[in-house]
Amino acid sequence: MSVEPGDVSAAEQVRDLAARLAEYPVDALVHNAGVLPPERTASADGHELSLATHVLGPIALTELLLPQLAQSADARVVFMSSGGMYTAELPVDDVDYRRGEYRGARAYARSKRVQTALVPFLADRWGPAGVMVAGMHPGWVDTPGVDDALPRFARFAGPLLRSPVQGADTAVWLLAIDPVPPTGGFWHDRRQRPEHYLDGTRFDETARRRVAEQMRTMVEEEYLR
Ligand SMILES: NC(=O)c1ccc[n+]([C@@H]2O[C@H](COP(=O)([O-])OP(=O)(O)OC[C@H]3O[C@@H](n4cnc5c(N)ncnc54)[C@H](OP(=O)(O)O)[C@@H]3O)[C@@H](O)[C@H]2O)c1
Repeated sequence: MSVEPGDVSAAEQVRDLAARLAEYPVDALVHNAGVLPPERTASADGHELSLATHVLGPIALTELLLPQLAQSADARVVFMSSGGMYTAELPVDDVDYRRGEYRGARAYARSKRVQTALVPFLADRWGPAGVMVAGMHPGWVDTPGVDDALPRFARFAGPLLRSPVQGADTAVWLLAIDPVPPTGGFWHDRRQRPEHYLDGTRFDETARRRVAEQMRTMVEEEYLR
């Protein structure tokens, strides 16, 4: 095994990481990097950090690795999203969270909502290259991130939290199961789940397209140039 480190939120580092990975075959990607910033933090390129970490960087990295993925007989890409995304509206007019009072948990949920909304769009975009795309919720898992970002939740829910191995189960299953699961879905505990639970955070196809178009422009102009 070898490890290639990189900050997936930063355009230059994403390009550099993809260049270092160019010599490897790529059959699968799990976009697992996650942040819940306590205060509004700008990425190296000036984007709200959770958007850059959860959405812009992962899409850009996948685009750059598409030639390798396309050569795989069975390429799969998993976005480690969160059930927290059900609580957020799709921030169509403020993807970078520049307006209103900033709350880290809200930024996290908004960016995970964007991530999940884009999965069907990315499934269409990368489908011709033979890539299956999935979003997923791992359950609530006992990790350093939960301890740091949500200490009260971690104390309260402690005994109920999953182990990291349990949290990884659906991601591993999505990558390994035969036949390949349908592309474009949102998954939890090896089952496909709805994109929407709450009427107040439901979005339509126009909103999805508008957000997808903004993400496409940012990725193309800043990460892939
Ligand atoms: N734990 C849960 O209950 C839960 C629930 C729902 C969804 N999730 C999702 O599951 C994923 C993993 O969460 P976790 O609880 O394991 O979080 P964690 O303990 O905070 O781990 C996050 C990981 O992401 C890496 N990371 C953060 N920013 C990065 C960047 N810009 N570039 C590269 N790597 C970066 C961190 O690396 P460093 O340590 O080097 O910073 C760390 O290894 C996240 O996407 C999270 O949103 C977790």
